[in-house]
Amino acid sequence: MGREWLADAVMYEIYPQSFADSNGDGIGDLRGVIDRLHHIASLGVNVIWFNPCFASPFVDAGYDVSDYLSIAPRYGSNDDLAELVGKARERGIRVLLDLVAGHTSIEHPWFQKELAADGPAPEGDRYIWCEELPVRSWTRDMPGTPAWVRSPGPRKGYYLKNFYDEQPALNFGWVGAGPDEPWRDPIDGPGPLRNRQALRDIIAYWLDLGVAGFRVDMAFSLVKDEELTQGYAETVELWRELRAWLEAGYPDAVLIPEGGEPRTGGSLAFDADFFLVIKDAHASLFNNQYAGRLPFQEPREPFFDAEGKGSTRPFLDAWAAARDGHPDRPIILATADHDFDRLCCGPRTADQLGTALIFLFTWGNVPCLYYGDEIGMRYLPGLPNVEGSICNPGYNRAGCRTPMQWDAGPNAGFSTADPSRLYLPIDPAPDRPTVAAQEHDPESTLAFVRKLIALRNATPALGTRASTRVISEGYPLAYVRGESHLVVLNPRREPATLTVDAGEPIWTSGVTVQDGEVKLDGFGYGIFTSRSADAA
Ligand code: GLC
Repeated sequence: MGREWLADAVMYEIYPQSFADSNGDGIGDLRGVIDRLHHIASLGVNVIWFNPCFASPFVDAGYDVSDYLSIAPRYGSNDDLAELVGKARERGIRVLLDLVAGHTSIEHPWFQKELAADGPAPEGDRYIWCEELPVRSWTRDMPGTPAWVRSPGPRKGYYLKNFYDEQPALNFGWVGAGPDEPWRDPIDGPGPLRNRQALRDIIAYWLDLGVAGFRVDMAFSLVKDEELTQGYAETVELWRELRAWLEAGYPDAVLIPEGGEPRTGGSLAFDADFFLVIKDAHASLFNNQYAGRLPFQEPREPFFDAEGKGSTRPFLDAWAAARDGHPDRPIILATADHDFDRLCCGPRTADQLGTALIFLFTWGNVPCLYYGDEIGMRYLPGLPNVEGSICNPGYNRAGCRTPMQWDAGPNAGFSTADPSRLYLPIDPAPDRPTVAAQEHDPESTLAFVRKLIALRNATPALGTRASTRVISEGYPLAYVRGESHLVVLNPRREPATLTVDAGEPIWTSGVTVQDGEVKLDGFGYGIFTSRSADAA
């Protein structure tokens, strides 16, 4: 069967802290997920992706791993994960974990050992150390603070970080290693080779336990100075080597990069591209920047917004570029993720989201539903900095990480803890959406999402393998899938009209078809079997 299954995936991202708390400590856990598998299965998704759930001091919400081979005690045990994987598999759901490949926590024993040493390890350093602050070299300051961190000692000098100061970069070597800076190990130096082996060991451990693969955090951050010089060729090569090793022992396992895989001219190492929520291709569609704007982001009006001032061009160009030469490669497009806002934020209400959701599940992408988006949970502004959620002024990730809203009980059914002990506050709005309230309401977002995923799963023409032909790229957006289905979407408040010979309606809202024209009210949408489906 190999990795073909990824093309038919409908993913569901779970931020483990916030999904379901089974032991009343205010933080979600694996038992909570096991208890809610029926909900996940009811959506029609077939892959769960967990954010890191390994031992960690949680300076960066678990992206600072202190033991790759142990589930963080607050989430449960390795046995719980094995049980979860087994029970999910019984329901036809695979589990992906998050592999933090480029850095560890400062609390990882590997780092503690090198910190305690008075010089480089004879077997090769796992981290990158230098005694003087380098003049030349890696200067990508993440996430807006200097890349080199003064060692707290005993070891003298500085270490290179990958994200926060508490996330030291693992040493995978440098391009352009030279005698003037002897601490720049070559890619095949002993330290880098140890780390390559460690990646295999970690991956094998969890695959043996039954997981189906990994989303790889900051996948292209491994070999240093690459983005300044050779365009990631060596990092891609590293992953290609790992992919070949996987192929021999674990041919069904997938590796998904955090973002798009750079094209280096050779064959690709990962099994998909991911259109990141914070990057332009995705943001130009959905991000109205009510949740904040990063320094690299242009002010922009997104396409799927009531104002109707956006453009699909940035997305369509990025899509065409990613497809170029790789027409069958899955591209993952998510409703939202743990790093930015949700679809439902600012003045955008859940009942305006139909067109965005239809797009996300009928375009040729692998869709990824962020937990809570199935009920239209809101991005909550102004929350405190929890576990490193604020990594840039004006950029607070806490608002998209709030507890799942299950029912009308205390803490929305997320936890029995005192509200002061919750991981993050729950949406205080009296009309906050919940699973229970929407469960039997045919007009609810939950019913909408279930129906949409069921339609997609039953209709190969709406999946990733079928062709996609855009016939109108403005308002309305219209495209033909598999030369048999027409999708017409009007995400703005103002009506829109398209001259097209639509076929039989399969699912419409706010749509009138008359005399070769499809008229859409504000927020209207239609899925038709297409007759000829050419815009006249
Ligand atoms: C990725 C993760 C983000 C994390 C960062 C550092 O971007 O998505 O949540 O903070 O890597 O590991």
